[in-house]
Amino acid sequence: MMPPPPGAATVQGPCMSVTQQFYLEHYERYYRRGIEAHRKGELDRARHDLLKAAEMLYKLAAASTGQLRDVRKQKAGRVLEMAQRIKPGEKGKGRAQPAAAHETTDGEGGSPRGDEWIIADPPEVSMDDIAGLVDVKATIRRRVIYPFQHPEVTARFRKQAGGGVLLYGPPGTGKTMIARAVANEVDATFFSVRCSDIMSKWVGEAEKNLRRLFDAAAEHARAVVFLDETEAIVARRGSDSTVMNRVIPEFLALVDGMAGRHPALLLLGATNRPWDIDEAALRPGRFGELIYVPLPDAEARRAILAAALRDIPLSPELDVDGLAERTAGLSGADLVGLCERAKDLPYEREITMQSPQCIEPPDIDAVLATVRPSVSAAMLARYEKFQNTCRTSA
Ligand SMILES: Nc1ncnc2c1ncn2[C@@H]1O[C@H](COP(=O)(O)OP(=O)(O)OP(=O)(O)O)[C@@H](O)[C@H]1O
Ligand SMILES: [Mg+2]
Repeated sequence: MMPPPPGAATVQGPCMSVTQQFYLEHYERYYRRGIEAHRKGELDRARHDLLKAAEMLYKLAAASTGQLRDVRKQKAGRVLEMAQRIKPGEKGKGRAQPAAAHETTDGEGGSPRGDEWIIADPPEVSMDDIAGLVDVKATIRRRVIYPFQHPEVTARFRKQAGGGVLLYGPPGTGKTMIARAVANEVDATFFSVRCSDIMSKWVGEAEKNLRRLFDAAAEHARAVVFLDETEAIVARRGSDSTVMNRVIPEFLALVDGMAGRHPALLLLGATNRPWDIDEAALRPGRFGELIYVPLPDAEARRAILAAALRDIPLSPELDVDGLAERTAGLSGADLVGLCERAKDLPYEREITMQSPQCIEPPDIDAVLATVRPSVSAAMLARYEKFQNTCRTSA
């Protein structure tokens, strides 16, 4: 009998949005697959699936609010820990050894000096796949991509290359996707790190992980370091946060040190909690440029819906433009989740009725009736307030 995902009852919350439902379903699926693979001794697969399960739970936490957010984050940490205890490439059956995570993160014996964060095989996402966000993409091209593609022009105009750019905005608006597209297009070694992974539970590991990351980046003439969920390493310091009181100065020192050592290093961050970020991290030379990634407008919603429904059997009566108008307030991730759920209805019909089906307008209506935007009006107001109180370029 397979164990249920840890704390399934508390991971599920009341009234889930489509995005939350999407992340929850994926979490449960990956978790069960991971446990099953572990039981069979397929440890590489088990590690992969449990890492994905933790990722989905972190996303679910990020799309949640209040206490539920903290509960989900803690559980994601536990699943991540389980995954990290499984040694990659380990053969044979049996439970993974708890020491494995130390062995792979301390730079001795395991993978050398942070190179495991290099994206050698960039994901197949391009800037053209990102719907809307015209200003954001223009800023990213000018600030992040061109300095690497056209270093001579950048030098001739004495444009500042390097430094840091922070993408901020509501959950599910494409911040991580933008970074993935940058990894694809930029002519530099791309390091991608989720900051919650850097913040290991073992005392002292977070600083060590950061140093390994920056040391590894320094070895490359041209490097982009993407720090996803940036707030996890530079959350405002409080008297009770001893970890943050150690990690933030270390991070700032590493970033400042890079400026002299490594002018072609560019830091790219993404966060949906910009107000939690320590102000010292937002100074010029660090995350000196903030870019707001907003909810999609009608045109962007239309493009996201069209992409999500591409090559899927659709009724000719389905009006994607009209749907874009009816989905104001939904994030890109909400829209993708909506399409996924709308597919379920004809999919099940086809299996039961054994005749070809397609997505009909009532399928969409049925899902839309249950959709709740994952970004509330209060959250949006908070982003707008933050945007008004800081320098932004988009
Ligand atoms: N502008 C967009 N264009 C196309 N797809 C989008 C866009 N925004 C979101 N999506 C869809 O939503 C999914 C989630 O987006 P992503 O993970 O990049 O959001 P995020 O802003 O990083 O969210 P979080 O703050 O929760 O990390 C993407 O994989 C993509 O399918
Ligand atoms: Mg993200």
